[in-house]
Amino acid sequence: MPSVHICEVGPRDGLQNAHHLMPTEAKKRWIAALAAAGLTEIEVGSFVPPKLIPAMADTDEVVRFSKGIKNLKVVALAPNLKGFQRALEAGAHKVTFPVSASRRHSESNVRMTPEQMVEEVRRCAALPHPGVEIEGAVSTAFGCTMQGEVPEDEVVRIATALAEFCDCVALADTVGYANPAQIQRVFRRVKTAIGSKLEAAHLHNTRGLGLANALAAYEEGVRHFDSSMGGLGGCPFAPGASGNVITEDLVFMFESMGISTGIDLPKLFAAREILRAAIPGEPIYGHTPEAGLPKGFRAAA
Ligand code: COA
Ligand code: ZN
Repeated sequence: MPSVHICEVGPRDGLQNAHHLMPTEAKKRWIAALAAAGLTEIEVGSFVPPKLIPAMADTDEVVRFSKGIKNLKVVALAPNLKGFQRALEAGAHKVTFPVSASRRHSESNVRMTPEQMVEEVRRCAALPHPGVEIEGAVSTAFGCTMQGEVPEDEVVRIATALAEFCDCVALADTVGYANPAQIQRVFRRVKTAIGSKLEAAHLHNTRGLGLANALAAYEEGVRHFDSSMGGLGGCPFAPGASGNVITEDLVFMFESMGISTGIDLPKLFAAREILRAAIPGEPIYGHTPEAGLPKGFRAAA
């Protein structure tokens, strides 16, 4: 069993904000390569109106394809009941809902207040969904480019409401405002409120603190992380949002510390080449793949 669990969110968080559209067949090749590198959970797309985010128009087909990959948990984002129904029809194993703690971001992103969005997720969770996991992701939990400060009490309040009917709750630094001290404080407060329902850290690298924040969360007991290959990512409805913490560097950090991820770095770099070829011209980041693995590097046992 790996010691930390990484969910690759590039096909969703990454491609929703990319300048280039990735053809469906290329998405499939990329997802298959990510799974072959050892990723056991991938957020493969979102069920949002195709007119709003054309890059996600093929999510139904991508989910159906991904379900055919052995040992892969297939995740999709849904912003409302209609998205949830589409996710259930396609057969996603897990559905994640973005619930902003910032009022301004919530209204910009899903055209609902945080309270309305909590109720929307509650309605979805009340529908039969055998075997399908529901995650409530508290977005802009560490600050918002439109609203500025997001009160920690709001984050705790929304996480607590979501924990009532979601299987798990994640905290997301949607616009990369968090610092390690804040990560530890907020995760600790939410953990005190909802215990083991608090699962993942969804971090963005906008100000270069992605890895520092991931390590801070790890030290706070977090074992589930979202990250994006090549550091793609960002919410199109949050001004100034940019890429997620970079999967390649996150895996390298943990593996070199002796903390196993279950992911094979050379195979991950091979998947990166598929990504690069699929959207040439798109900036692809990552220190470890650019520099190469250190001489004598040994992955965690
Ligand atoms: N999938 C497909 N179509 C959808 C849909 C969904 N999940 N939700 C709504 N629609 C359709 C409606 O059927 C309607 O279609 P019509 O014009 O043909 O009748 C149209 O979209 C508008 O529906 P409405 O319920 O009024 O939605 P809205 O315009 O208020 O938008 C959201 C609300 C939640 C659908 C939209 O803001 C959204 O998708 N937000 C998520 C954005 C995102 O992905 N952000 C990044 C990830 S955090
Ligand atoms: Zn994100």
